[in-house]
Amino acid sequence: MESSNFMQFVEKVQKRDPFQKKAINTFLAHQDEKYWLRAESFAKNLLGLLKKNGLSQEYIVDSYLKMCKNMLSQQVVFKRTGVYSCADSQTAFANVYNSETEMSSYMYGVAVSQFLWPNHYAMFDFFMDTIARFSNVKKYLEIGPGHGLFLVEAMRHFRAAQFSAIDISPVSLRISKEIVDHFTGGQSCSFQISDVQNLDSASYDFISMCEVLEHLDQTIPLLKKLHSMLTAEGHLFITTCANCPAIDHTYLYRSVHHIRQELQEAGFKILADISLPIENKPENMWEEERVEVNYAALLTHSEAK
Ligand SMILES: C[S@@+](CC[C@H](N)C(=O)[O-])C[C@H]1O[C@@H](n2cnc3c(N)ncnc32)[C@H](O)[C@@H]1O
Repeated sequence: MESSNFMQFVEKVQKRDPFQKKAINTFLAHQDEKYWLRAESFAKNLLGLLKKNGLSQEYIVDSYLKMCKNMLSQQVVFKRTGVYSCADSQTAFANVYNSETEMSSYMYGVAVSQFLWPNHYAMFDFFMDTIARFSNVKKYLEIGPGHGLFLVEAMRHFRAAQFSAIDISPVSLRISKEIVDHFTGGQSCSFQISDVQNLDSASYDFISMCEVLEHLDQTIPLLKKLHSMLTAEGHLFITTCANCPAIDHTYLYRSVHHIRQELQEAGFKILADISLPIENKPENMWEEERVEVNYAALLTHSEAK
């Protein structure tokens, strides 16, 4: 099945950057009907929101291509130096999270990558398969929703839950709110601008924190705090990455082993996880060759049955 709004957008991207054409076509050639339904629903909703906000499709194409370019140039430097170029989270806040132009184009770019980057789509798909296993979630928290697409899916699935979202970036949070309002038809969620490290210790049945750990200066204290905020039967869904430089990434995980070790140290049991390298190399070479790996996991208390 072909999706018209989505494919029009893809053609615009490919016209502007012919180097992406082959990779995108190869990825699309392997997608199933579920993918095309999701991609078309995303494109249709996004077009409606752009119209409402007076933004053009070209702005979204520019945003996506700018993010790809930034990621690529950061990767080239990281392969050589082995360190992330962003010094700390304060620098990331000043240069990125608090900048209207940078953050807006960044978040729309990441939203598009959910449907064009194989690893980003695989994590999104893993998230949807994961939440489909749960039905009795009453209190749900999302940390760093950014573009808000994971939150939208959770709200569509856990219809009766009470939802909260927090993000350090006022720009990001505004975009999350607009996307959630428009894509869910006005379902209710409480949005708060805050550093996750200053979060109140309320308790939740389900917490999602996707692509946030690598933006912190320290990870273990937050992981321990999140562990203490889960109800006895509660679950945390996280995504993060190893060897994945970006303009605002500060915490360098050098391997999947490193990520898993921290999760276990913070008191979590890993119920399911996926590791997705972006290069076709065997796992024993990932750390040494600084291969970028996306990681997603469903966690619970280590003492839970
Ligand atoms: C790359 S985006 C991730 C968006 C989305 N969750 C995803 O998986 O694609 C990272 C988000 O985390 C937010 N963030 C970064 N550091 C944070 C912190 N200390 N507290 C709360 N939010 C933070 C950023 O503002 C941004 O919205």
